Amino acid sequence: MINFEGKSVLITGASVGIGRAAAIQFARFGAKLAMVDINYEKLKSVKEEIKEFTDDVLICKCDVSREEEVNNAVENAVKQFGRIDILVNNAALWRSCHPFEEIPISEWQSYINVNIMGVVYFSKAVLPQMIENNYGRIINVASVAGVYGNANMTCYSATKGAVISLTKALAKEVTAKGVLVNSVSPGSVSDSSDSDINSYTESEMSFMGRTGTDKENANLICFLASDAASYISGQNIQIDGCRKKQ
Ligand SMILES: NC(=O)c1ccc[n+]([C@@H]2O[C@H](COP(=O)([O-])OP(=O)(O)OC[C@H]3O[C@@H](n4cnc5c(N)ncnc54)[C@H](O)[C@@H]3O)[C@@H](O)[C@H]2O)c1
Repeated sequence: MINFEGKSVLITGASVGIGRAAAIQFARFGAKLAMVDINYEKLKSVKEEIKEFTDDVLICKCDVSREEEVNNAVENAVKQFGRIDILVNNAALWRSCHPFEEIPISEWQSYINVNIMGVVYFSKAVLPQMIENNYGRIINVASVAGVYGNANMTCYSATKGAVISLTKALAKEVTAKGVLVNSVSPGSVSDSSDSDINSYTESEMSFMGRTGTDKENANLICFLASDAASYISGQNIQIDGCRKKQ
């Protein structure tokens, strides 16, 4: 049985989709929650939604690509909860789909800043206290695009590939200090604008014939963050319904 009582979790991109579902599941399993997003209004509604499980919640408007805002968010969370035990780096850009020749350099820079540097800033900000506590879990949300490479999504694929290798390299540095670092790589997921965390649609991309739900992805994140996964670090776990097309 997964139980996060006494644990504090910081989730980025928590206002919709997988991040919101993770917030709901962590709250359901007893965690204290810091939720970070650029969309403050939506964070307020997630805070309202999870009230039935906990009101020990901090919401923070923060652009993960801005180091100073990240450091402030972490400082505020540590002030409120005393420590951060679990970090879920979930916020990312991914919706743009163009051939490589048509992607402006400015788009490459935004993807690198949000998808890679966001993970770097948050990990750097939480690690000193995790190491001091000899306990921490970092779960990075990557993508199958970072494993196989998606045509017309070169900068997304490249940044998620970087997240997977960052995960593996960092795990080798900090696992012995009590900090377990893993990534999850979703395949196709139901549209994050759908507020039903159990919803899915048909998909030809998986042998299951459907997309994954936000809740299924959130449950994998919760498992990796839990004591049930105490011997897992440095791994990228694909959650893709047995992907067909690579
Ligand atoms: N949805 C999918 O099909 C799919 C597939 C594979 C991987 N993923 C990964 O799952 C994660 C979540 O995706 P999703 O589709 O559930 O949600 P989404 O992409 O719809 O939303 C992401 C959230 O991140 C926030 N965000 C974006 N830029 C930000 C920034 N600079 N600072 C702070 N917050 C920011 C958004 O406001 C939003 O709340 C992402 O890392 C994505 O790459 C999604």
